[in-house]
Amino acid sequence: VASFPFPSSQCTNGHLMCAGCFIHLLADARLKEEQATCPNCRCEISKSLCCRNLAVEKAVSELPSECGFCMRQFPRSLLERHQKEECQDRVTQCRYKRIGCPWQGPYHELTGHEAECTHPTKTGNELMEILDEMDQTHKKEMQLYNSIFSLLSFEKIGYTEVQFRPYRTDDFITRLYYETPRFTVLNQTWVLKARVNDSERNPNLSCKRTLSFQLILKSKISSPMECSFLLLKGPYDDVKINPVIYHFIFTSENNETEYVPLPIIDSVECNKLLAAKNINLRLFIFQIQK
Ligand SMILES: *[C@@H]1O[C@H](CO)[C@@H](O)[C@H](O)[C@H]1NC(C)=O
Ligand SMILES: *[C@@H]1O[C@H](CO)[C@@H](O)[C@H](O)[C@H]1NC(C)=O
Ligand SMILES: *[C@@H]1O[C@H](CO)[C@@H](O)[C@H](O)[C@H]1NC(C)=O
Ligand SMILES: *[C@@H]1O[C@H](CO)[C@@H](O)[C@H](O)[C@H]1NC(C)=O
Ligand SMILES: [Zn+2]
Ligand SMILES: [Zn+2]
Repeated sequence: VASFPFPSSQCTNGHLMCAGCFIHLLADARLKEEQATCPNCRCEISKSLCCRNLAVEKAVSELPSECGFCMRQFPRSLLERHQKEECQDRVTQCRYKRIGCPWQGPYHELTGHEAECTHPTKTGNELMEILDEMDQTHKKEMQLYNSIFSLLSFEKIGYTEVQFRPYRTDDFITRLYYETPRFTVLNQTWVLKARVNDSERNPNLSCKRTLSFQLILKSKISSPMECSFLLLKGPYDDVKINPVIYHFIFTSENNETEYVPLPIIDSVECNKLLAAKNINLRLFIFQIQK
């Protein structure tokens, strides 16, 4: 894929893999509980056993690759600038997008569109309507941030670093899942579990991977405990997560949440987590007091 980032890796016998394939092999090995091996020579591969090959990276950067918009060939090293700034077919948006024009099209049609665009001649009243709609959308996006800020003024807030570690179920077909050691937040004992979850049955064959997780209260409580919780990148791992706030009322009988999505930005990122063995994140729990 033209857009996939180098560097490349090589096994101890010198066989090459691009970074994406390398991470995918490590993630697959984790799912199958096998040692990852080089597809060419079957020698062991791992992050510490494999190294970058700078000569190959340089050579590859000079190979021609195709622009996704105009289909012309460019040296890989020039492609990014071409696609961003120079390609006549790159996708652009009308300059009146700010006042609601939805037009999108190739760069070479942009000037023609903008000359004919009806948005600049709309009346104040028409624009007011459009701006109202845009405000609504923006407001929805802001809600997440506002909720985080209001949670931050709660009386009881706890957070901790959590480490998800890989385990196997004892079922006939064993499955990979993750669990953290017990930890204490807000003077209660908790555990987090996570599992690989995707639309297809067989996660080792699927390219689209997601993770979901649940929060489990291990302490006995006498009165219900209403909480908001959220997982974020911690200080030790570079995980790309879109923050999502979840709510749950823990009681003595109802002491675990459903599995909810761990909002990792995409399945490439998910493979990186699977390849990395342990997953380190930071958990926040906000206790809602009535
Ligand atoms: C924390 O819990 C223990 C027992 O579980 C209790 O003795 C202690 O008072 C609690 N501390 C706070 C600050 O609630
Ligand atoms: C994937 O896993 C399933 C069940 O765990 C197994 O039957 C299947 O052979 C595996 N496929 C590959 C390609 O490893
Ligand atoms: C958690 O809930 C289950 C099922 O409702 C219950 O059997 C168990 O005792 C609860 N655990 C604690 C620590 O309250
Ligand atoms: C996957 O997770 C979603 C929510 O994250 C859940 O609704 C769904 O049931 C899960 N699927 C499986 C197979 O666990
Ligand atoms: Zn182009
Ligand atoms: Zn326009």
